Amino acid sequence: MAPFSARFLPLLLLLLPTALREYLPAASNRRPSDAVGDELLHPLVLIPGASCSELEARLTDAYRPSTQRCGAMKGKGWFGLWQNSSDLSVHRYVACFMEQMSLVYHPDANEFQNLPGVETRVLNFGSSTAFFRNPEQTALRHELGRLGYDDGDNLFGAPYDFRHAPPISGQPSPVYARYFRQLAALVEDASRRRQRKVILFGHSFGGMVALDFARAAPAAWRDRYIKHLVLVAPLPASGITGSVKSFCSGTHMLYVPTATSLSLRPMWRSFETAIASFPSPSVFGDDNPLVVTKRRNYTARGMADLLADVGAADAVEPFRRRELPRQRYFEPPMVPVTSITGVGVDTPEQLVYWDDDFDAEPEVVYGDGDGAINLVSMLAFDEEMRRQPGQRKQYKSIKVRGAKHGNFLTEEWSLKLVVQEILEANRV
Ligand SMILES: *[C@@H]1O[C@H](CO)[C@@H](O)[C@H](O)[C@H]1NC(C)=O
Ligand SMILES: *[C@@H]1O[C@H](CO)[C@@H](O)[C@H](O)[C@H]1NC(C)=O
Repeated sequence: MAPFSARFLPLLLLLLPTALREYLPAASNRRPSDAVGDELLHPLVLIPGASCSELEARLTDAYRPSTQRCGAMKGKGWFGLWQNSSDLSVHRYVACFMEQMSLVYHPDANEFQNLPGVETRVLNFGSSTAFFRNPEQTALRHELGRLGYDDGDNLFGAPYDFRHAPPISGQPSPVYARYFRQLAALVEDASRRRQRKVILFGHSFGGMVALDFARAAPAAWRDRYIKHLVLVAPLPASGITGSVKSFCSGTHMLYVPTATSLSLRPMWRSFETAIASFPSPSVFGDDNPLVVTKRRNYTARGMADLLADVGAADAVEPFRRRELPRQRYFEPPMVPVTSITGVGVDTPEQLVYWDDDFDAEPEVVYGDGDGAINLVSMLAFDEEMRRQPGQRKQYKSIKVRGAKHGNFLTEEWSLKLVVQEILEANRV
């Protein structure tokens, strides 16, 4: 971890009015006032954060492994690729895992794809188990159970291939086209069985996926099937500085025993997700250096240059063609939305590479946010949601002081607030 830096930037955040009345008191002991009655609950579909979903792979004849070892599973059918990361280390499969997880950008199709001969699929679609893969998340399962939510009955899950980012309108993405079809069918099914509209619940990257799903759906379909979006710490389209840090120096997002974030970095850099949440100039500013090196400073506008300068020239074209348009794109989903995010937590805002060495952890200058999402980006999201009058009247934003991005659903006090909002979404 980077040492905490005492040097604070004059925060551009200060330029933005923070709506204090939106801030809740830090701790709340409100218990979910007891239930609406199981039969009245709206079905709930959970969309987990990136890295929660499990992936299986199958290697066909077309696969050309870089080493003999990596070809060992060829022709052997489906196996867990991102499922049990201890297994990868134990069986010395980490290098092969990295190769088989990697995506390649194809300029002709303007699409990210697997390596030739590597087929992948997401496990357990429909079940909420992906959300609870991390044992710490069982508190949420428990709380939902108390309300009367039961997996497979009125509680579902929609894991996805988190290596890809959801497309904006007009961008090709066969992976999300399929996923959105599956999710629509799941929602229709759940809704029909219960004769009620469905609540979609998304956490972090899953919040972005939920939002993109809703706005990609036809208006009549949304009105008929979607009751509410409850988004916890959704990743905003205007991005976060933390993404830049992960891209440059690696991330622990996909934890594999014995592997370091630096050793996993080539794989991470091949994912569309790695470049999908870079900070946008309209929100992070034109003259605010986000990355400082001896040789050169990079503002949000300099991110394409940064990609090339850290040795990822291949990422520049997809970044320009897929991610920059996404930063500028905002369509309200036009369904009721509650967005709950933490604030008041040190959040990476500027990265300083004193020795111009991107393999070293940068010195980090912190600002306000939830530990991952910069406050400035959350506020821009709120502003966009309120710009459109039709959305404004069905948008609720809650900022929770001291709630951390990764712990929102595991800390009892912040979890209670979330459960309260799920109940609220059932009632309104
Ligand atoms: C995961 O892999 C490890 C190492 O191979 C093994 O000991 C463990 O039982 C596996 N866990 C599950 C849930 O399969
Ligand atoms: C980069 O930004 C830092 C911090 O704002 C500043 O002190 C430094 O002079 C800048 N360096 C260059 C090369 O512009």
